[in-house]
Amino acid sequence: MTVTAPTRPKRRLTGLKPTGHLQLGNLLGAIRPMIQEQYRSDTIAFLADLHALTVEHDPGAIRARTLEQATALLAAGLDPDRALLYAQSQVPEHTELHFLLECATGYGEAHRMIQFKEKAAAQEHVRLSLLSYPVLMAADVLLHDTEEVPVGEDQRQHMELTRTIALRFNARYGPTFTVPVGVAPEVAARVMDLAEPRSKMGKTGNGAGVIFLLDPPEVIRRKVMRAITDSHRTVGYEPEFRPGVANLLTILAACVGSTPAALAGDFPSYGPLKRAVVEAVDGLLRPIRTRYKELARDPGYVNRVLEEGAERARDSAAGTVHRAKRAIGLLA
Ligand code: TRP
Repeated sequence: MTVTAPTRPKRRLTGLKPTGHLQLGNLLGAIRPMIQEQYRSDTIAFLADLHALTVEHDPGAIRARTLEQATALLAAGLDPDRALLYAQSQVPEHTELHFLLECATGYGEAHRMIQFKEKAAAQEHVRLSLLSYPVLMAADVLLHDTEEVPVGEDQRQHMELTRTIALRFNARYGPTFTVPVGVAPEVAARVMDLAEPRSKMGKTGNGAGVIFLLDPPEVIRRKVMRAITDSHRTVGYEPEFRPGVANLLTILAACVGSTPAALAGDFPSYGPLKRAVVEAVDGLLRPIRTRYKELARDPGYVNRVLEEGAERARDSAAGTVHRAKRAIGLLA
């Protein structure tokens, strides 16, 4: 008989940028995996409202989206007694550590980031904060001695830079930071746009192919029934050649707890498949919508959760900032 020592739960951190309404892709790709993990991992979730300021923004909208996303996370089942939930800007240690890390990052390194190049190319006025965006992200992660960061493809390079900065700082100034790893969330589904199934949901211009978390049932129905499929007569799971159908199967599988390939055989044609998707998605979103409405009636409650979260986050972060200041040569 082998006896394995009980392992300490890993500290996991997720940041959500409050720039838009949360949608089904966020729920199945990031939020639900995090909520399932909160009983196994030491979970930290925060709203990256400072990151939302790195491109042209509407102040009122950022504030509204920050509260909306916090409310949605709670409605979806994030347990504030279990996980730490807060808004980045309410924890000044993020920006304090950000500056120290800027002193351990090269201009060229930041300038080479693919996301910076893409976003900068699409704008006339590029904010300086867009260049240092990944350094702030490194601060978010390193602040909490984070061990694991669930990341999709688009944030992988930023996570690599975070590791580089941590290793360099530790090598130059002595052991200071836990070096984190980027991980793929175990049970995440990659959800594509219903109207443009080769693009990730939420990344395309118009919202026609996006199911938002708070969409009413009739809107969900309309969007799913209009989803792009193809001219085949039978349902098959071939993501490469038939991305639209594959996406519907992926969504259904994530909702009912099955695999897309196994479900493909259950449907003679696209009509029944789409009706099943409507029912499954509405079944998944209905309780979240209901709970959201209850929570939204008392914004004082959500604000209190965020304030208490910020206080706990400051406690957790203060030690790291102190260590980093001492190490880099400041009077701590
Ligand atoms: N940049 C991330 C995104 O756009 C959000 C984010 C900010 C983040 N800080 C983070 C994610 C720290 C993980 C860890 O999705």
